[in-house]
Amino acid sequence: MSDTKMVSLDAMDEQLIQKAKQEGVETMWDRKVTMKAPCGFGEKGVCCRICAMGPCRVSPVEGKGAQRGICGATADTIVARNFARMIAAGTAAHSDHAREIAHVMHLASKDGNYTIKDEKKLLRLAEEWEVKTEGKDIYDIAHEVAEIALNEFGKPFGTLRFLERAPEPRKKIWEKLKIKPRAIDREIATIMHSTHMGCTSDAESLIHMGMRTALADGWGGSMIGTEFSDILFGTPVPRETEANLGVLEEKQINILLHGHEPSLSEMIVMASQDPELVKLAHEVGAEGINLAGMCCTGNEVTMRHGVKIAGNFYQQELAVLTGVVEAVIVDVQCIFPSLTPITDCYHTKFITTSPKAKITGATHIEFNEEKALESAKGIVREAIENFKNRKQDKIFIPKTKAQATVGYSVEAVIKQLDRVVNSQIDPLGTVKPLADVIKAGVLRGAAGIVGCNNPKTQHDYGHIEVMKKLIANDVIVVTTGCAAQAAAKAGLTSKDAAKLAGKGLQAVCELVDIPPVLHMGSCVDISRIITLVSETAKFMGVDNCDLPVVGVAPEWMSEKAVAIGNYVMASGIDVFLGVLPPVTGSPEVVDLLTNRVEEMTGAKFFMDEDSLKLADMMLVRIEEKRKNLEKLG
Ligand code: SF4
Ligand code: FE2
Repeated sequence: MSDTKMVSLDAMDEQLIQKAKQEGVETMWDRKVTMKAPCGFGEKGVCCRICAMGPCRVSPVEGKGAQRGICGATADTIVARNFARMIAAGTAAHSDHAREIAHVMHLASKDGNYTIKDEKKLLRLAEEWEVKTEGKDIYDIAHEVAEIALNEFGKPFGTLRFLERAPEPRKKIWEKLKIKPRAIDREIATIMHSTHMGCTSDAESLIHMGMRTALADGWGGSMIGTEFSDILFGTPVPRETEANLGVLEEKQINILLHGHEPSLSEMIVMASQDPELVKLAHEVGAEGINLAGMCCTGNEVTMRHGVKIAGNFYQQELAVLTGVVEAVIVDVQCIFPSLTPITDCYHTKFITTSPKAKITGATHIEFNEEKALESAKGIVREAIENFKNRKQDKIFIPKTKAQATVGYSVEAVIKQLDRVVNSQIDPLGTVKPLADVIKAGVLRGAAGIVGCNNPKTQHDYGHIEVMKKLIANDVIVVTTGCAAQAAAKAGLTSKDAAKLAGKGLQAVCELVDIPPVLHMGSCVDISRIITLVSETAKFMGVDNCDLPVVGVAPEWMSEKAVAIGNYVMASGIDVFLGVLPPVTGSPEVVDLLTNRVEEMTGAKFFMDEDSLKLADMMLVRIEEKRKNLEKLG
């Protein structure tokens, strides 16, 4: 069984892992021990299985062992190809999510399950995309805008529409580098083609292609995902919630919402308020229905409804171990297949809903968007009917939970900033106050801390320590994904956390009435961060790379994170990684990512497994950027 030392920052995680041991239940920790050390070739990225002449493992050490694969591919080629394919997979995941949301908007109707919640945002987007709106029904506009978005995936000509939102100097850089993404699917297909056996072997060319594909994620798929979700389900506004496994309720039906897409979870939220289902919950002896979110589905519903956060990626097994979860309902991405054997040890129903993520042994109830609410009600009913099967001797709900403020969309941030604007002098609704405090040095800079959990690091340690260090040094933090949930659990997204901030940030938090760490949503919502940075750069008449802003992924693990890292870098923002990507077998790729890309994009990667060192590097870089910004006037 597992060695639980150094597992987590949170003693509660340890308690549940001990419970698993006592009950003979296997967790990821046991599997990590069984796995022993990771494969050295895989870890360095020098294993190629692209064709059947191989697999070939080449030596990561120059002059020692096999230097080329059977076809002659070098370590540089193999590493760069593998890395580019990670970007393609990550981009595919975010973008396919966005495509689903765009389809849902195409289905939306006044009397249907899916309606338009933010008409203003839809109209703004329609104007941006030159859709005529005058005298038209809002749903006709929505359908037209949705169709344009759906064409962004496969249009034969031109580049992505959202690229126009970038600062002018950034657009010029992209043009010069020829990395303006064309259709989203096309970029993914081009990577798959170019990394096929016998195509591109030049590492630099592959890194270029990777940037273009990643930009199709950040300024394509992810941005469509965020914008369309806001239009359909509402643009988030600040609201209070709670976070950590202590949000599970012993006397209620607990439904865990896990995955990424909001189209299902929105309907589950509606279904859980259905009077008939609430009545049924009472009839089976429960006091009510308690929804709790996990991973990005959790972020989507907490941002829009204040649904409590059960935890992040790493706690999906731990939640089941409490013995009080009637159903884990999942859609796509970041779902452990181990939820099947672990839910088998308890009464918990593990329900998959997407044909894109069927999991062996799970109960598959396919979610039908055309009958969305009906489907969601059926799923909630399953959970309610399962309440009677709880095993009383297996119940243990940790007490731990923290208060959190969530819901900081770009619009919400700007609205908060308006509190300090003298509207007789300056117009409302701009990023001017933010630009002012950055210029004046009251805030030294800003950091976007994002990403997953990874058992290579202590759970949440990297997220929390980096956040604490940055806010103490007057760097405001914006966060999404599992990093945001780590912050929420640690109390850093509460306004009370301003006491941990430096004097400058503390003053800003008090004046604007915000926490020092702003929860901006799910992983696709990193597009919100990119938008905020770009709007600030445009306002100041500079490029993103001129701002004292950093992107950080202390505990990343997924291919989606690789796509994100690359689009953030290609957007001109330095990226700091706390887990090394599988590129260290290629000196050329390492040099490209941590050095030469800066000449091209004005930003680069920094990597260090020591989170505190990483935070020091960020602070140094932020001060360097400040000096340059001063020179720009
Ligand atoms: Fe080996 Fe080349 Fe085939 Fe890769 S593409 S498996 S390096 S022969
Ligand atoms: Fe996510």
